[in-house]
Amino acid sequence: MTVAMIVHGGAWAIPDDQVDAHARGCLTAVRTGYAILRDGGSALDAVEAAIRVMEDDPIFDAGRGSCLTRDGEVELDASLMDGATLNVGAVACVKHIAQPIHLARLVLESPHVLLVGEGAERFAQQHGMPLCANEDLIVERERAIWQEYQRRGHTHLGDAFEPRADTVGAVALDASGNIAAGLSTGGTPNKLPGRVGDVPLVGCGFYADNAVGGVACTGFGEAIARMALAHRTMQGLEAGLTPAEAAERAIQTLAARVSGTAGLIVVDRLGRVGFAYNTKRMARAFLTEGMARPYVAVDRTEWKEPED
Ligand code: GLY
Repeated sequence: MTVAMIVHGGAWAIPDDQVDAHARGCLTAVRTGYAILRDGGSALDAVEAAIRVMEDDPIFDAGRGSCLTRDGEVELDASLMDGATLNVGAVACVKHIAQPIHLARLVLESPHVLLVGEGAERFAQQHGMPLCANEDLIVERERAIWQEYQRRGHTHLGDAFEPRADTVGAVALDASGNIAAGLSTGGTPNKLPGRVGDVPLVGCGFYADNAVGGVACTGFGEAIARMALAHRTMQGLEAGLTPAEAAERAIQTLAARVSGTAGLIVVDRLGRVGFAYNTKRMARAFLTEGMARPYVAVDRTEWKEPED
């Protein structure tokens, strides 16, 4: 049985001077997840580990380094799905958790599907996860962006608004044929406190089913949720499309029906990978059996490590 690992570090208008950091972060994440698969580990462990790498890397809009709400705080959402059992674990609006993907894993292993806010944080403590100060999740770059929003008095920074980064995600197929998909995000910049996008909503931001494949999305959560984008992509796979075709069709439909901008990554049950996006950029990396090295890209062409 083959194994496959694909990650994204988020869609949107990643600034030129942040492209290399996004690419390197995805590269580390995909290698981390793939090493687990290669050593016989589970797809769930691989997805969680890859996302933890990106939550810990402040370049991404997940964990520390996430964008701020209008109140100047970080509010995080995360999700994980097991394609073998169809068990789901998700959390939303947590403010004191540095690694929400691990909390999502704990929820997945419980009878619940989605926990939010203070109740989710209490559940974390009950399961031995430490809480952190919200301040510990905030980096100077995001505070400066937030201050600019307040100075301009705008919801968005301009007509051609595209945030600097978005959600991280991962999908894996392990040697036992199990598929898992997961996401973690700080959401959109200057979002309303309490606002939640697609990330913790099953079938919207993510889905995994061993019989079909797995999907993880990134982009404007409201549009993704309205279209149940992950579910729509799964339908494409079920209809016999390749992962690349299913991804492209889902993004085209999103644009046509709700003028949505987003990206997504896909693995099917055969270990074939695909992705599509209609934002300016989307950081991504994948590694499947037989590849000599990971594919990494942020733009349409493959990223190469700059020479010193
Ligand atoms: N895709 C992340 C969000 O809209 O919250």
